Amino acid sequence: MSKTLIDQFSKKLIAWHQRSGRSGLPWQNQRDPYAVWVSEIMLQQTQVATVLERYPRFMKRFPTVRKLAAANLDEVLAEWAGLGYYSRARNLHACAQQVVNVFSGKFPSDPVLLEQLKGIGRSTAGAIAAFAFHEQAPILDANVKRILARLFAEEGSLQEKAVNDRLWALANTLLPSKPEDMPVYTQALMDFGATWCTARKPVCLSGEQKCPFLNECQANLSDQVLLFPQKNIKAKSPEFDCDMLLLRSGNSVLLQKRPSKAIWGGLWSLPESSWRNKSAPGLSAKQLLEMVLPQEQTSSLLKACKNLKQSESIKHIFTHRRLWMHIWGADLRTPFEPSDPNLKWVALNHLGHYGLPQPIKVLLQKLSLIRGGDLKNSAAN
Ligand code: ADE
Repeated sequence: MSKTLIDQFSKKLIAWHQRSGRSGLPWQNQRDPYAVWVSEIMLQQTQVATVLERYPRFMKRFPTVRKLAAANLDEVLAEWAGLGYYSRARNLHACAQQVVNVFSGKFPSDPVLLEQLKGIGRSTAGAIAAFAFHEQAPILDANVKRILARLFAEEGSLQEKAVNDRLWALANTLLPSKPEDMPVYTQALMDFGATWCTARKPVCLSGEQKCPFLNECQANLSDQVLLFPQKNIKAKSPEFDCDMLLLRSGNSVLLQKRPSKAIWGGLWSLPESSWRNKSAPGLSAKQLLEMVLPQEQTSSLLKACKNLKQSESIKHIFTHRRLWMHIWGADLRTPFEPSDPNLKWVALNHLGHYGLPQPIKVLLQKLSLIRGGDLKNSAAN
């Protein structure tokens, strides 16, 4: 390991940031840990351009951790609509309540304590501690792992714990010596990974000799930049089938609130069967109704849904699985009164008040049940 690189790294990176880093973003130069935390969570899986639009809106709606903690989860989910990865919104809400209940509304500055809060991983804890409290805490997100794996030609897959442990140790060693440099250093690392030391087109391969670490980066010196970090071996994600009910009555559609721990947790979706492996046999209309609707109502519904037919099938790709959703539609002359409080008839022109999963929204638009603009407030991945 090069001693000069370790000694010089933070200074050179901060100098790079002054020349080429991102500045003037609304979440930068913030010392309010609440504001820092919200921006870090929002930036995790969302493009900066989207966060630029949505972060100020979120902060206006929930300006303090107490306001967020006191809000209803549905309001938070609706405000998060369109940003995807909804567990982030559920965790934001739960974490705000932890901060209020356990820490009297004040975020702790210790990254070890921050990491114990809902939805805050070790790297995010480091970022909040560094930005808001100038703590000398390292970050190690995917971009930083790539930078360090290249600089030090770290061999081994990022799936391996030993490799991650070594990268955390390196991230710690490279920290600047002055606590007041922590915010700019942390931002510089994030920006360098996001804009220069990128996965597919790092600047060192552009022909321009401008990377500040050209002469120290072990991967560059051995002309192997794209070989680091070593690729994870990816298994093909498993594929499932499920059936969904699209029951309509006049201008209303039957929605079901998703269980909070499931995919799309807390959102309103079409009532759906459990998922089965692609190889398992499909359901009949009767089996579907029995599985999805309250038991005591199925026999009357079987009559009412005589014309229940399978129409569309939609494929949706999640991070770790693929799902085929088979849609069964029927028009009911008279809507039944659901005995289950998680089932609700919703007028089509009120769907905008409900957080709907993105593929369900697209389906309803495709079937011309709603227009594009009707659901500006709803969406989830
Ligand atoms: N990704 C996560 N946090 C970020 C930040 N503070 N700036 C830019 N991208 C980020």
